[in-house]
Amino acid sequence: MRIIVTDSYEEMSTVAARIVAGQLYLKPNSVLGLATGSTPEGMYANLVKVHQSVGLDFSEVISFNLDEYIGLDKENEQSYYYFMHKHLFDHVNIKPENIHIPNGNPENLEEECKKYDKLIEAKGGIDLQVLGIGQNAHIGFNEPDIKFEATTHKVKLDEETIKANARFFEHEEDVPKYAISMGIKTIMLAKKIILLASGKNKAEAIYKAIYGSVRPDAPASILQLHQDVVVIVDKDAASLLPEKIKRFCKINKNQEQPSRIYKFYIIEGCFLLCQL
Ligand code: F6R
Repeated sequence: MRIIVTDSYEEMSTVAARIVAGQLYLKPNSVLGLATGSTPEGMYANLVKVHQSVGLDFSEVISFNLDEYIGLDKENEQSYYYFMHKHLFDHVNIKPENIHIPNGNPENLEEECKKYDKLIEAKGGIDLQVLGIGQNAHIGFNEPDIKFEATTHKVKLDEETIKANARFFEHEEDVPKYAISMGIKTIMLAKKIILLASGKNKAEAIYKAIYGSVRPDAPASILQLHQDVVVIVDKDAASLLPEKIKRFCKINKNQEQPSRIYKFYIIEGCFLLCQL
């Protein structure tokens, strides 16, 4: 796991966009796993800018979104379908047939979930997965006490998530109670993952994700076991991390690479060495 601590939300967004753009330059037909929410908005704005200014090409990109609310139509401004078109898809040259977002109003929900995982597999798996994190350390909509082996499935949103997301809706009662989400297994099968977080309200979740023990009540902690994760956090989201990590991982304009820190974990009797 590599951690980059930035000074601001803007810097976090630029760094994340550079990683995604780099991925597309290296592999123009990349399969991207995409997140919604306020955290990646700045990253998408940067990607749109790079597309418009120097022609970053999305024509061969295939995308899979992490999740969608159950019960909202695509036209609903709070649907993740709407969000993705507003912030990214309507402004770049991605082909509509290459865009995949779980259908929040399927005839057969179980079938929809199975189809989604099969399609990801058929496209060769996710090359780069972008993640935000909930205040309760959820990733996608995998709420605390999720089964780590879950694939795409129906989830009941936590009260905390409903409260946090109420800011996007007129009334808290309007927030859907259920969603379809890629499972932890689906996410962990991605070849590379970037996790973004900004703000003091994410500091505890980031601490648990990076430094806590790996446990289902902190779903993001499973990322410690993935071989290629870059965590990009602003200094507020990093504020609860131990000083030594922050010191080494802060972006220093004169120093190319943050130092590498390792940590041991013991999970169910196995020793694991993680690179922080
Ligand atoms: C959204 C998603 C969620 C969000 C998380 C943080 O697709 O998967 O896990 O990333 O709820 O949301 P924001 O960025 O709005 O704080």
